[in-house]
Amino acid sequence: MSDEAVAPEVTAGAVDAQAAEGVAAIAGARAVDLLEDAESTYLGKQSFLANVKAAMKHLDPERRREVGAALNRARGSLEQAAATRRAELLADERRERLAAERLDLTEGLGRARVGHAHVVTQTWERLEDVFCGMGYTVADGPEVETDWFNFEALNLPRAHPARSMWDTLYLDASGLDGVEDGELVLRTHTSPVQIRTMLRAVREGWGPPIYVVCPGRVYRRDTADATHLPVFHQIEGLVIDRNISMADLSGTIEAFTKAYFGEDMTSRLRPSYFPFTEPSAEFDVSAPDGSWLELGGSGMVHPNVLRAGGLDPEEWSGFAFGFGIDRLAKIRHAVDDLREYMSNDIRFLAQF
Ligand code: PHE
Repeated sequence: MSDEAVAPEVTAGAVDAQAAEGVAAIAGARAVDLLEDAESTYLGKQSFLANVKAAMKHLDPERRREVGAALNRARGSLEQAAATRRAELLADERRERLAAERLDLTEGLGRARVGHAHVVTQTWERLEDVFCGMGYTVADGPEVETDWFNFEALNLPRAHPARSMWDTLYLDASGLDGVEDGELVLRTHTSPVQIRTMLRAVREGWGPPIYVVCPGRVYRRDTADATHLPVFHQIEGLVIDRNISMADLSGTIEAFTKAYFGEDMTSRLRPSYFPFTEPSAEFDVSAPDGSWLELGGSGMVHPNVLRAGGLDPEEWSGFAFGFGIDRLAKIRHAVDDLREYMSNDIRFLAQF
């Protein structure tokens, strides 16, 4: 279209109409490159407006003024429309990019591996639940014990031959004021908590009667193998009341066995020896195949132990028992090597 060709027909109305069409095309452009196409169509060198502008010189002065004003209006409204649309499109683009690049930090949660308590901790807590359900409360004591609590008060004076039942780890107390060497041990069992609990009950005036369980970590100078760990866990039970007999002990062990393992499991007591109980018994639980699995020790609290705990053996009697929590979990979950507990292998741990 040559400028002469346009010239005769061109009117301000045609320019306004072209501008309106261009504004609509620009406002409707759905992407930046389409907007640029529309801008070039309506504002570019080949556009109707550019041709009109070039043809202006052929118009008579009156028409030129009208058309010139229309051209200015057209350029203004088209540029304004293009700027508005460009800003909108860029804002959309940015919004989309942000949405696409957004890192949803909560997204992984559904799939993440959620941790849980170690099987020994689960067993420990379950034991507390079972005994609490039988009316017991939970007591505890320190892992670093004195020789008196760990042995002497339990009717094991120094040089008692039965001390060799516990391979003991002694602490070097040479730097401690008022503590003699050989005085401090890592407790070899939870039985010292028996003494601590009796003394505390008397001092604080809440017992006897005493019905407590004392779960905790214990230590022995042992080399780790499939059935031994130098650091393991026991739970102690202590009942002090009037007229407690061996029948109460055996009934308690049986009730516990059924509550923990299930109704079809049973228990038995076998005569044994511990310096702090008289008589003493080891107790076993039945395995599904009919065999017996040794679980722990028990017996009637020895009069010397009652006295060390500040109680009169003429007035009070009681029973005590103790067994390994790790070993119980081993039986229940058919773990074949106790060292698995310490190996920190997720494939082992995740099974429980
Ligand atoms: N303390 C004993 C042990 O570790 C177990 C036991 C506890 C025995 C209470 C009798 C009474 O072997």
